[in-house]
Amino acid sequence: MINDLIRKNRSYRRFHQNVAIESETLRELIDLARLSASGGNIQPLKYMISSDPSKNALIFPHLRWAAYLQDWPGPAEGERPAAYIIILGDKKVAQQFGCDHGIAAQSILLGATEKGLGGCIIASIVRPELQQVLEIPAHYEILLVIALGKPNEIVVLETVGPDGDIKYWRDEDDKHHVPKRPLEEIIVG
Ligand SMILES: Cc1cc2nc3c(=O)[nH]c(=O)nc-3n(C[C@H](O)[C@H](O)[C@H](O)COP(=O)(O)O)c2cc1C
Repeated sequence: MINDLIRKNRSYRRFHQNVAIESETLRELIDLARLSASGGNIQPLKYMISSDPSKNALIFPHLRWAAYLQDWPGPAEGERPAAYIIILGDKKVAQQFGCDHGIAAQSILLGATEKGLGGCIIASIVRPELQQVLEIPAHYEILLVIALGKPNEIVVLETVGPDGDIKYWRDEDDKHHVPKRPLEEIIVG
């Protein structure tokens, strides 16, 4: 089951924008993050949610999508995320957040995948602007944004070829291909 879930849990960047996600669903996903590992069990992460179209519209312009797809400016109106979870580091609790936010993001996305949703971790964020537009207090550091929705694209996993190119790409049918390095290459010794 975990094998299927991890294979299905791709980065989706195009969604059925009109398929709403309830706040309660977002709370359930954050509860998975809450129960996940945290360095020193400090638990310095906080979460901001958005499932409302007007708040989503404030967030979207401050995110950068799919850097390797240079001809694609990001999801068009109608295929944008239906919701977001913004992962914040609370500087009143800790000054560094280790890899807690990566673990939290994976828990959220696995939970979303199990619910038939999909998403994308976004670290390329225009942070000062997003902080300002959402009126996020200064003691919170924006770590990651998780975009969520009902996926409206096909993502195909494949193995990196002999040229070693790891860049994801889209074919003529607009399917998104993600090359992964082979197992024998990544196990050392
Ligand atoms: C830490 C991290 C930051 C990422 N930031 C972005 C981002 O800013 N924009 C984006 O479109 N995708 C982003 N991604 C998604 C990656 O591009 C994606 O994981 C990669 O292409 C592999 O695809 P997969 O998730 O389907 O395996 C990020 C992923 C991770 C783990």
